[in-house]
Amino acid sequence: MEIEGVSALVTGANRGIGRAFVEELLARGAASVHATGRDLESLESIAALDRDRIRPLALDVTDAVGIEELAAATEALDLLVNNAGVDCPAAVIGSDSTADLRRAMEVNYFGVLNMSRAFAPVLGRSSRSGIINIGSMSGCIHVADHTGYSAAKAAQLMLSHGLRRELAGQGTQVVQVLPGFVDTDMGAPLQMPKASPRAIAGAALDGLLAGEELVLPDRFARMSYEALLSEPDRVMRDPDSMVKALVSRLLAQDAGD
Ligand SMILES: NC(=O)c1ccc[n+]([C@@H]2O[C@H](COP(=O)([O-])OP(=O)(O)OC[C@H]3O[C@@H](n4cnc5c(N)ncnc54)[C@H](OP(=O)(O)O)[C@@H]3O)[C@@H](O)[C@H]2O)c1
Repeated sequence: MEIEGVSALVTGANRGIGRAFVEELLARGAASVHATGRDLESLESIAALDRDRIRPLALDVTDAVGIEELAAATEALDLLVNNAGVDCPAAVIGSDSTADLRRAMEVNYFGVLNMSRAFAPVLGRSSRSGIINIGSMSGCIHVADHTGYSAAKAAQLMLSHGLRRELAGQGTQVVQVLPGFVDTDMGAPLQMPKASPRAIAGAALDGLLAGEELVLPDRFARMSYEALLSEPDRVMRDPDSMVKALVSRLLAQDAGD
């Protein structure tokens, strides 16, 4: 599918990768972008970029009823970008982490499910439609003390496979994106080389245009995926040392540039 002339909807569009998606879609000639976020006021600066093409909308991806109402009121949509996500660091055992573990699942998994289910019929009316789901390499390689996030992103990966198979008949492409480390508020605590949000959005849209099902949008994601395929036992047994080794390789590459 082409980006020129499409009508798109982005969740979590007020900052980070979501905001970068809106900017990239505009730069590539999208006709309209529904920029959604939990707080309408937080969308003001993104809406100001292009008031003709950007439609700011308040939307919480855990609000299944609100999502159904919005989908029912949406006449046309070609591209849905399920970007909104939260990290909820918490140990699994011996702590009162249930609320955090559930919240990770509600936003990163059920949020994508709510949006995709509600908007599938709208996308089905388009002659060229797609869904981009922003997952994480953390859904493939476990991150210590972030089990809720890793589990929710792993579940999202399987959801994407299911959506792809169920929506193939109506011609809706489903692209799963697995970023590594990205320079956003969420990535701020991480001290390592990070990709720019705009690079992630660009790679995801390139993947969509190329008909790809899985997009590894940055160097860390590509290295991790390679490690996953070549040393699956090590990734399972000792993910921390694997990630450390990959980050060292990234730093060495950067030092050599
Ligand atoms: N940064 C990284 O290193 C990295 C790596 C891999 C994957 N990712 C994924 O990339 C996506 C974007 O993350 P980011 O790095 O841009 O993080 P971010 O800067 O923290 O932005 C997260 C976005 O999600 C929104 N959001 C959270 N809960 C929501 C809800 N219930 N309903 C609607 N929107 C909600 C936030 O809105 P508020 O402003 O209202 O909180 C914000 O717009 C996420 O899915 C994340 O898991 C990020």
